[in-house]
Amino acid sequence: MAADRGIQVSRTDSAKPVPLSARAPSGPLRGEIRAPGDKSISHRALMLGGLAVGETTIHGLLEGEDVLRTAAAMRAMGAEVSRDDAGTWRVHGRGIGGLAEPADVLDMGNAGTGTRLLMGVVATHPFVSFFSGDASLRSRPMARVTKPLEQMGARFVSREGGRLPAAVIGTARPVPITYRLPVASAQVKSAIILAGLNTPGRTTVIEPEPTRDHTELMLRHFGVDVTVEPGPDGDRVSVAGQPEITGRVVRVPGDPSSAAFPIVAALLVPGSEVTIRDVGLNPRRTGIVDTLLEMGADIRVEGRRIEAGEPVGDLVVRASALRGIEVPAARAPSMIDEYLVLSVAAACAGGRTVMRGLSELRVKESDRLAAIARGLEACGVRAEVDGDDLTVHGCGGPPPGGATIATRLDHRIAMSFLVMGMAARAPVAIDDASPIETSFPGFRGLMAGLGASFQEP
Ligand code: S3P
Repeated sequence: MAADRGIQVSRTDSAKPVPLSARAPSGPLRGEIRAPGDKSISHRALMLGGLAVGETTIHGLLEGEDVLRTAAAMRAMGAEVSRDDAGTWRVHGRGIGGLAEPADVLDMGNAGTGTRLLMGVVATHPFVSFFSGDASLRSRPMARVTKPLEQMGARFVSREGGRLPAAVIGTARPVPITYRLPVASAQVKSAIILAGLNTPGRTTVIEPEPTRDHTELMLRHFGVDVTVEPGPDGDRVSVAGQPEITGRVVRVPGDPSSAAFPIVAALLVPGSEVTIRDVGLNPRRTGIVDTLLEMGADIRVEGRRIEAGEPVGDLVVRASALRGIEVPAARAPSMIDEYLVLSVAAACAGGRTVMRGLSELRVKESDRLAAIARGLEACGVRAEVDGDDLTVHGCGGPPPGGATIATRLDHRIAMSFLVMGMAARAPVAIDDASPIETSFPGFRGLMAGLGASFQEP
């Protein structure tokens, strides 16, 4: 059945690892691709579709495991979610406050965004739900969302530090709060705003540093009253609770975080020219493009346009000699998922690249700060972590490579070190390529289509 086919998620903790290695291709990377749909926007489209009355149609949804977990969770709470043979997704929602108690544990796999945002959604529904996931997700801190959601009236039973598995006892009498984010996190902001949807009055989040605003943009696209006002301690993002929202058409742009892998690969493989179509260019996501441009990258943006409230364009990338720079801490929220692949670019650049303010990298799908340092050293590149700052000493050309990297259930470690293999003198292997399915299904085929060379040991 088409509806079921779109929702199957099969990879588990115990699945057999899929080792893979990449080596420098025999020629340049060339061609045109479309990056997979934006993961952040895909999660939000399914959730808002499930909270809207009537039909929401989603074009370009990311069909990666993380997003399919969210689709399955929305389905478990009563939304009708289906996919047609052309790849269009349809959600028939239950209305704000209309979700039903899920009959079983919501297994969120590797999906941190799906988990934290859904915890916000169910916090203000008067039922009990249970969340769990893979070993990586079960190790990630959830207290950052459970703390403010408790202030709104929800209760949580979890492992130490709010870690999963966790039970959420949603409140029947939610209270609106004003909450100042202690960490720059769009997930925390979004969890509170989504909880605020079924809360009377206005729920407000103060964000001292701007983070991705896909929740705000999509809520507006669905007709919700969301305001953003500058204040002395940061932007005040506020939502008016208990609106009635109706289904919409959503076009999901290509994910700039996924595009970053072919972008860096094209910059590093000599003579390459690659075009990546329909990439989301929300300025709160494009820190990686700004940074690579500062490093001397030849990246041209063509055909800028707006789709479903989000800026989109095509990127034309040509191989370039990069130089080391200093990346300020203030840029971290706009490229938080891209430091791994940026470090690969920095390893090939001339001179030192210093990246500041990376504390949040420690609580991603793995401790990415440690992973970068360890992985680069294994590939013969000098890297130092000093507090929250990372320094990479560029090789001014292809690094030695020749290592095998542990991916630790982290899709971005897997893809970053495969890109390293494309640029290095000796092949680089990863112990498990299967986590790539969480965010970039088809990565291997797409990159091979451009000329990349992968080997299964
Ligand atoms: C996301 C926010 C970021 C990012 C994650 C997706 C989102 O996490 O790392 O991949 O969709 O809101 P934080 O908000 O925890 O920084």
